[in-house]
Amino acid sequence: MAETTNGSALSSEPPSALPKGFRSAEQGWPELHRIPHPPRRLPLLGDVLGASRTKPLQDSVRHARRLGPIFRRKAFNKEFVFVWGGALSADLADETRFAKHVGLGIANLRPVVGDALFTAYNHEPNWQLAHDVLAPGFSREAMEGYHGMMLDVAGRLTDHWDRAAMAGRTVDVPGDMTKLTLETIARTGFGHDFGSFERSRPHPFVTAMVGTLAHAQRLNTVPAAFLLRASARRNEADIAYLNRTVDDLVRERRRGSGGTGDLLDRMLQTAHPETGERLSPENVRRQVITFLVAGHETTSGALSFALYYLARHPDVAARARAEVDRVWGDAELPAYDQVAKLRYVRRVLDESLRLWPTAPAFAREAREDTVLAGEHPMRRGAWALVLTPMLHRDPEVWGADAERFDPDRFDPKAVRSRPPHTFKPFGTGARACIGRQFALHEATLILGLLLRRYALRPDPDYRLRVTERLTLMPDGLRLGVDRRTEAISDDLRAAAAPS
Ligand code: HEM
Repeated sequence: MAETTNGSALSSEPPSALPKGFRSAEQGWPELHRIPHPPRRLPLLGDVLGASRTKPLQDSVRHARRLGPIFRRKAFNKEFVFVWGGALSADLADETRFAKHVGLGIANLRPVVGDALFTAYNHEPNWQLAHDVLAPGFSREAMEGYHGMMLDVAGRLTDHWDRAAMAGRTVDVPGDMTKLTLETIARTGFGHDFGSFERSRPHPFVTAMVGTLAHAQRLNTVPAAFLLRASARRNEADIAYLNRTVDDLVRERRRGSGGTGDLLDRMLQTAHPETGERLSPENVRRQVITFLVAGHETTSGALSFALYYLARHPDVAARARAEVDRVWGDAELPAYDQVAKLRYVRRVLDESLRLWPTAPAFAREAREDTVLAGEHPMRRGAWALVLTPMLHRDPEVWGADAERFDPDRFDPKAVRSRPPHTFKPFGTGARACIGRQFALHEATLILGLLLRRYALRPDPDYRLRVTERLTLMPDGLRLGVDRRTEAISDDLRAAAAPS
């Protein structure tokens, strides 16, 4: 469907499409009264008393603990249903009855990225076109091609950390992980270098991106958009900056001799294998911004949380480090295949993503009238938000100690013993994360490199605080890093022998 740059429709919807715009829960849940809501609900205002505007996700987690596996919250005239119980969430993963819902925060991003992969409505033709053109960019073969570039960028991080170690300075974990992951997706996807490690402040692209994400989140918490006039003006400027940056990047590529078969080459040169159709210039711009944003913010958070847990759990760090020493041996840099062999490091990452899934919710809508888990009738188009941090803490799935960090929960036997669809950091179904393998390879590689090179020193006074801007990040996390001096001992190798 054709669209204007601000995302509004030019042509009418196909007959099967659902109406656009926000649909409040009372329109879609005939038995809404059976779903609990927070006490002290006020007429007109809803459940806004005591609600946090800066930490809506953690607010929902607090309510979830009191209200149970399905609950609702109302802000002014908008009511949402949240789901986190294992059985209810697993039912929402049934692709025959449910699909991705583009609502709330995601719909607020449409003025920036319109019908690009992440924000496209299910019926929009550009979703399938872009999915088919870009999915091969995440094949094993393509990933192998990115490995060397990931190592190059990692070298810039370790140079930076080596200097901090020499000077006895602590490192800014979320800041450095953001530099690393932005440079990695920019380099592997688009052959671009933002020079993040050479700057003392974040690149203006990051500042503009954070601005648009924060604005999109703020829009959810006000009764009407006009209340955010000043923020909207800044947002316009941020969007213009993002567009300019990407237009320059594409122009540079078109003028030059092409890349190395990266994502941008695919976007510009690849025709759909069956229809021969290509992405339009407008759509390419939207996809590039989408990948630059989606491809770094969440991975940066995942790495930061993993480093937080590794620093707090020296026993886990020692076991993970011993595995790296054993699997990588004396090789100066790991080969592509040696990354997936870090099974325990991967468990550390999975366990960090369990407790703090950095894209902390996804929405699902009913394709037709249906009954959720045989209990809650839903009309076609009714939707619910799956609250992933709570799904990942459901005691019926994860046990009474679900809050405890324990990578052995991802031991293959433990994984097999759990019901399906209960670990969903990358979403579900056809619209699940296209960059999953990319993120897992990058994050496992970086954790391996950092464990092998440094001992991590936590600040004993640091208490985990989590910031939210649609994604999650540990706030103000700094670590001391010391270059490792000890030799790789046989003891360590033995300790890491596969179980
Ligand atoms: C740890 C890192 C990551 C996490 C936790 C994550 C999480 C997610 C989740 C939950 C979704 C589904 C959202 C929904 O249902 O509304 C998603 C979609 C998506 N992700 Fe990721 N992601 C990560 C890394 C990446 C990377 C590295 C890339 C690109 C290189 C990427 C690109 C995308 C795109 C384009 C979509 C939209 C897919 C579609 O609808 O077809 N993500 N991601």
